[in-house]
Amino acid sequence: MDKNGYKVINMNAGLMVDNDTKKILSTLFSKYDKEDIHLVYVGESINTHIKSLDLDRFSSDVDSLLKENTNKNAHVVLNNIISSIKSIKSYGIKGGKRIYVDYDKERKVKNRKDKENNRRGVARISRYSNINNELPKEYEDKIICGDSLELMKKLPDNCVDLIFTSPPYNFGMEYTSNKDDHNWDSYFKQLFDIFDEGIRVLKYGGRFVVNIQPLFSDYIPSHHIVSKFFLDRGMLWKGEILWEKNNYNCKYTSWGSWKSPSSPYLKYTWEFVEVFAKGTLKKEGVKENADISADEFKKWVVAKWSIAPERRMKQFDHPAMFPEELASRVMKLFSFKNDIILDPFNGVGTTTSVAKRLERRYLGIDISKKYCDKAIKRLKEVLL
Ligand SMILES: C[S@@+](CC[C@H](N)C(=O)[O-])C[C@H]1O[C@@H](n2cnc3c(N)ncnc32)[C@H](O)[C@@H]1O
Repeated sequence: MDKNGYKVINMNAGLMVDNDTKKILSTLFSKYDKEDIHLVYVGESINTHIKSLDLDRFSSDVDSLLKENTNKNAHVVLNNIISSIKSIKSYGIKGGKRIYVDYDKERKVKNRKDKENNRRGVARISRYSNINNELPKEYEDKIICGDSLELMKKLPDNCVDLIFTSPPYNFGMEYTSNKDDHNWDSYFKQLFDIFDEGIRVLKYGGRFVVNIQPLFSDYIPSHHIVSKFFLDRGMLWKGEILWEKNNYNCKYTSWGSWKSPSSPYLKYTWEFVEVFAKGTLKKEGVKENADISADEFKKWVVAKWSIAPERRMKQFDHPAMFPEELASRVMKLFSFKNDIILDPFNGVGTTTSVAKRLERRYLGIDISKKYCDKAIKRLKEVLL
């Protein structure tokens, strides 16, 4: 960054910039606020000084000028400018513009790391072993029909990189397999027994990601209860994603609550995705196995994801699937290629088919044979 706060892209034009080219450049840059971007000529070099830019608009302006003008010098210079701007990999996004300077400035706190460590105290001292194991080959890339609690007991400690799942919600859904209408205490007891096994089989540094929708009509905040469970187990809270489904077609009232403060009933168009880490917030992985693009990363670390609900539930005959896009974002953001992904409530196999498509290894468990058969069929349709 220069003293005026611009990122400076130095470009030796490699040729004399003729007057015609200068005119073309001035036409282009006159369309943009000097505060955002401008050119400075230094001898034979052209320096682009940039703070922020709507790159799509700029690219299309450059394309138009390339079409309108035949001057070869102008073509070389314009192409150099656009390709050097496009090659900048670090930027923020604000109001449709890429921000190239100061986008990552945090408020400065002296000795931030030490202070963070002091605040954490004993709560952050990991109780988990950091010795990871391999998932036995017989469980790799498998869909297994059975009770997760029993099946996970057969797996060694610390052998799975990422668990992504959505448990039965206790809404009274019509699953083929299990009752979905328990007393809340027995529901959470059964769920947490399975989650305990999940935590055990999760690697040190592995992530446990749970999609959960509270049953608001029962006033049971399941997402908080689930989060408290993980915190009590010493798992580290990595974050919470708000999955905005934009399904506004819910009714506005029930009898007696319309337009009255006595008991207004709140509406939710979203679900939660809670993310926990075992032992450490940082996950080990080979850099080449990270498959998230720069744009995806920038968009998805903003933890409100607008994704339409799965539309094929009738086709799959399953009442509570999550969409592939949700699984895909979770996997690309929190796991590496070749990692082991486990879904202990795999349903008709959304997690496992996305894992296969994204070149992860997987294990899906569901208690229903019918759902497992569909998950297996779905895997066969995944094209690599
Ligand atoms: C919310 S659904 C998951 C749907 C899945 N995410 C999908 O997209 O297909 C919960 C699933 O948990 C399964 N299930 C319930 N109890 C189970 C248990 N003890 N062990 C394994 N699966 C169980 C149900 O059969 C149901 O398919």
